[in-house]
Amino acid sequence: MLVDPVGWREATERALYGEDGFYLRDPGPAAHFRTSAHASPLFAAAVAALADSAGLRRVVDVGAGRGELLLALRALDDGLALVGVEVAGRPRDLPDDVTWLHELGGLPDLGSALLVANEWLDNVPVDVVVRTEEGTRLVRVDPETGEESLGGEPSQVDLDWLDRWWPLREVGDRAEIGRPRDEAWAQAIGSLPGGGVALAVDYHHVRAGRPPTGTLTAYRAGRLVPAVPDGSCDITSHVALDACSAAGTAAGATATVLTDQRHALSALLGEVERPRPDLARTAPADYLLGLSRGGELAELTETGGLGDFGWLLQSVGGRLPPPFMTGDREGSHRL
Ligand SMILES: C[S@@+](CC[C@H](N)C(=O)[O-])C[C@H]1O[C@@H](n2cnc3c(N)ncnc32)[C@H](O)[C@@H]1O
Repeated sequence: MLVDPVGWREATERALYGEDGFYLRDPGPAAHFRTSAHASPLFAAAVAALADSAGLRRVVDVGAGRGELLLALRALDDGLALVGVEVAGRPRDLPDDVTWLHELGGLPDLGSALLVANEWLDNVPVDVVVRTEEGTRLVRVDPETGEESLGGEPSQVDLDWLDRWWPLREVGDRAEIGRPRDEAWAQAIGSLPGGGVALAVDYHHVRAGRPPTGTLTAYRAGRLVPAVPDGSCDITSHVALDACSAAGTAAGATATVLTDQRHALSALLGEVERPRPDLARTAPADYLLGLSRGGELAELTETGGLGDFGWLLQSVGGRLPPPFMTGDREGSHRL
């Protein structure tokens, strides 16, 4: 069957979330790539420390995958109220006291909470544009082959977004239009009318360092593969977290910090010390546990890997908690 080329946003929407889409099928994201939530319970420990510091007793995980972060949080603190928001259905092994909201359309009123979105925004579908001799043009894609062709001009609102956040300088330069992610994040901020903190963790870039040819890519079974939006692979691109931050502020965020995972985990967890060598003889199990915690922290903070992930923290209705208290309304960008 021949399928007409469409814009990348529409093609990705169908491939990831359409009937039998990539994210609706078993076995879920963990079979295809490794997020911080899969890598170590230390990531959950940092989230729990943040909730504790903010005095928040409810954690909402948006784009919760198969509930890995929620399970780790439950193991750490059985008093936390836990909510997962996910396009996919409720995982079978999730404890009954964890709420699972099965949605795509938008976020409900979440009251007051710590909202966490780990690798959610990079999966909010976006259009791709390229600069040509004739001006900026949308890129269309054949959903079955991944073959690209030139489409028409983007809408004025998308051209305005590009102008503000990702100007295309040379013929051949490409960009992903992050506007749907800004809107998703603004909605996340708006879902906390009772106040709280929202945290987005993702691979990202900021205006001063956008990649000239964009970052659209795909993963399947742990490998980078050609981006073909046929539902067989994850389609993803880095997030313009500075643009999301501005959208969050416009939606009511009252303080902002944009930092990286390396600094955030060090601030929340402190140093994870190497186990004393004598423990290897006197308490081998503790020694091995200490070694594995060190290895996990190294993975979560690795340069060129998860450590470079952006942490966008915004509070609603007050300041950010320690250790992020320095953020002000305009946003403090510490990258
Ligand atoms: C890359 S996975 C990350 C999963 C998990 N947060 C983790 O860190 O392992 C992105 C998840 O976001 C979910 N998702 C994407 N858009 C969503 C939306 N609008 N509402 C709820 N879930 C969404 C996808 O189904 C997918 O499970």
